[in-house]
This record gives sequence, C-alpha cells and structure tokens, in this order.
Amino acid sequence: MDKIVSLAKRRGFVFPSSEIYGGFGGFWDYGPWGVELKNNIKNFWWHEFVHSRDDIFGLDSSIIMNPKIWEASGHTGPGFADPLRECLSCHKRFRGDELSEDKCPVCQGKLSKEKKFNILVKTFIGPIEDETAVAYLRGETAQAIFVNFDNILNTFHPRLPFGIAQIGKAFRNEITPGKFIFRSREFEQMELEYFIYPESDKEQFIYWKEFCLAHLKKLGLKSENLRFYDHPKEKLSHYSKGTTDIEYKFPFGWAEIWGIARRSDFDLKQHSRFSGKDLSFKESDSGEKLLPYVIEPSLGVDRLMFALLSDAYCEEGKRVILKLIPQMAPVKAAVFPLVSNKEVLVKKAREIYSDIKQSLPAVFDGRGNIGKRYYAQDEIGTPWCVTIDYDTLKDDTVTVRNRDTAKQERVDSHKLTGFLKKQLNS
Ligand code: GAP
Repeated sequence: MDKIVSLAKRRGFVFPSSEIYGGFGGFWDYGPWGVELKNNIKNFWWHEFVHSRDDIFGLDSSIIMNPKIWEASGHTGPGFADPLRECLSCHKRFRGDELSEDKCPVCQGKLSKEKKFNILVKTFIGPIEDETAVAYLRGETAQAIFVNFDNILNTFHPRLPFGIAQIGKAFRNEITPGKFIFRSREFEQMELEYFIYPESDKEQFIYWKEFCLAHLKKLGLKSENLRFYDHPKEKLSHYSKGTTDIEYKFPFGWAEIWGIARRSDFDLKQHSRFSGKDLSFKESDSGEKLLPYVIEPSLGVDRLMFALLSDAYCEEGKRVILKLIPQMAPVKAAVFPLVSNKEVLVKKAREIYSDIKQSLPAVFDGRGNIGKRYYAQDEIGTPWCVTIDYDTLKDDTVTVRNRDTAKQERVDSHKLTGFLKKQLNS
C-alpha cells in the first residue's frame, strides 16, 4: 500500500488535496499522469457502455439539483446514513460497523452510543442561508438519470430494455475517509441505469454482472484479484432487491469496486409520487403502461484507478514497473536522444517526437543517463521508449524498447507512428 501511495505521489498521479495547508481529509488531487489514467478509464467505460451499443444513452447532469430529489430517493433519510460512534475520551469518530471492539481503537476509551449520521453534503443556494435554501451536492449520479428518464423517453422514444449512462462527481461526508483514494468525500462514479421489463430482472442481473466482470478483465485486472460478493438480504441498501459487488483484492484486503443492484421500480415510483409526474413507460404498439425495473451497475473511477495501480505495480530487481495495459498507460511512448549534449541527435529526436505527438500521448526526455530515463518511464507504465542514436543519422532507424520484456528492436523512423499504433491496438 505504502509503495503504491508513494509511487502515485512521486510520479505525479495523485497528490493529497490542499497539501501546502496540511491537507484536507478525504480529498485528493490528480496530477498529470493521474488525469490521463482517469481519462483512459472513463473513455474506455464510455466506449463499452455507450458508444459500442445502440440501447444506451449518455447524460451529463448538474451536480446540485432540486433537494426534493434526495427526499424522494431516500437519501435524506436513514437509508443514506452511517452509524457514528464517538470516543468519549479523545473525541475521535468512527463508523460503528467498522469497529471490531467496543472501545476506541486509538486510546481504548469508552465509546458513545451509535447515532445515525447522514452523509449527504449540504450547501445553501441563493443569498439567504436558512433552511429553505438548503441543497445537496449529489450523493450519487444515479438520481439525475431517473429524473431525466422522461426526457429521454420523449426525445429518443426508445424501446425496453434501454439504459442511460453518466460519468460524474459524487460527494459524501464519509465519517472515516481513507485507504488512499478508496474512500473519499469527493469521487467520481460511472453509472448505468438499465430499464427493463420486470419479468426479465433476474436474467438481466446475470447478464450485467458478467458484462461488468468482463470489462474489468479487459482493463487487465487479474482474474485471481476479482470476485463476486452477494450482499446478504439484511444488509441491502434501502432501494435494492438484491446487490452483488465485484470486489478487488486491494493491498489492504478484498473490497467493493463495482456495485450491481436490482433497484426494481423503486426510484421511478418514488419520483412519480414526489414530483406528481407519471414516469411510466408506454408501449408503442399496445399503448399499455408499465413502470420498468432497473439494473444498476455503479462503478467508482477512483477505486478502479487504485485497483489498476495495485494490479500493475511490480518490482523486478531494482526496477519498479507499472504493467498497465498500453491502452490505459498515461504515456504511450517516450522519446530520447541517446545523449543530451549532441545537438544533431537532440534535433532529430525532437523531430521524431513532434511527429509521434500528433497521434499519440508522448513525452520527450533528454536529461540524465539513458538507464535512469528508462526506469522513470517504467514507473509510469510507458509501454515503449524510442531512442535516437548515431545509427539513426545514418539509416533513419530508431530503437524501440518494450517496457515488459526490455527487448529492443530497430524500426524505420518513418514507420514509427504506424508501428506504435499497431502495437497499441493489438
Ligand atoms: N448508485 C448506487 C451507488 O452509489 P454505492 O455502492 O454507494 O452505490 C457505487 O457506490 C460505487 O461508487 C462503489 O462501488 C465505489 O466504487 C464508488 N464509491 C462509493 N463511495 C465511495 C467513496 N466514498 N469514495 C470513492 N468511491 C466510492
């Protein structure tokens, strides 16, 4: 765990938020390579869940919405509250369900009785800060999908089953944020609400569980680090008739990365009731009305990124290598002149670099010795390093070194971009 957190900081993936002010618990900033990795994760999800299908529509809603939405969804009630216990001696606060003993894990002091603590993040909208101005930062992206259900019906006239997908920030005032970016107070979700005929609930649930697991394997996560966990009935969320998590074996143990829930017609029913708007679906042939059921696969971007970093981290002798699949790697190619003090090599390397950069994320590095440059790229997971040497000046070929095998091959510099693209897509 410490090695991954340290690499993430050292190499510009993840920084603690507000660090020069001592940090701010539960918030993180993503540096240059963190942004790239997150974007790769989101783009791949969007590709598989939206672009490659005809039955799923995209959405990008506002983060702050009418507060009645959160009443209707049950999020202002006990369903979205965590059990809070406070140490009566040191006043540290803990989640009751995470304590293994009935005393404070820090000072062994006596603990208060359990209280329910609602984790929606509150704010005020408008110039007067009273109870009537209270609004919430969304606790999940899902509710915005349900309240736009009617808009999608009226503009795209889909047939059942169909889905609406959204990627965006969610906020929760977690009592105990921690385990690096696993549990934060501000995070990103990739959520799909898939509307179905009620009678196909079980079959669709099985389909989506498998679809999601396959997605994680395509990202390169090792099968032995993934498993399904079925929630026992007494632990289901307030909206769920059944939930299976896909858990990942993090350095601290198995934990949820993807929740797949059978939300039934809970949300459409609640929003119909609270808004007064009939949210039923009308069959185009028969005119018959029904409230669709919903299967919800809900995945956290930050947790998935943590899983990818953990899975890819590997040490070979003194080398640390991030064996991300090339499609996820923040940088696809690094270009080096063999030595930095030979103007003619640097110039040629710059030309080749500009060319690659037109089509692939690439970096140029001309500092220090070449071995150190390779190690630095290995640590951020760059799959190919391209070196321009004296032979390049004679025959216009370059050396391409593969991150995982450390094998080198000569490639014609005019064919280099095509070569790299081919490797990337293979
Ligand atoms: N709409 C359903 C929903 O939000 P959830 O299980 O509470 O369900 C779904 O959250 C996913 O969002 C989780 O599997 C996890 O990946 C991510 N997630 C939830 N809370 C998080 C937090 N505090 N920090 C980081 N990711 C979180």
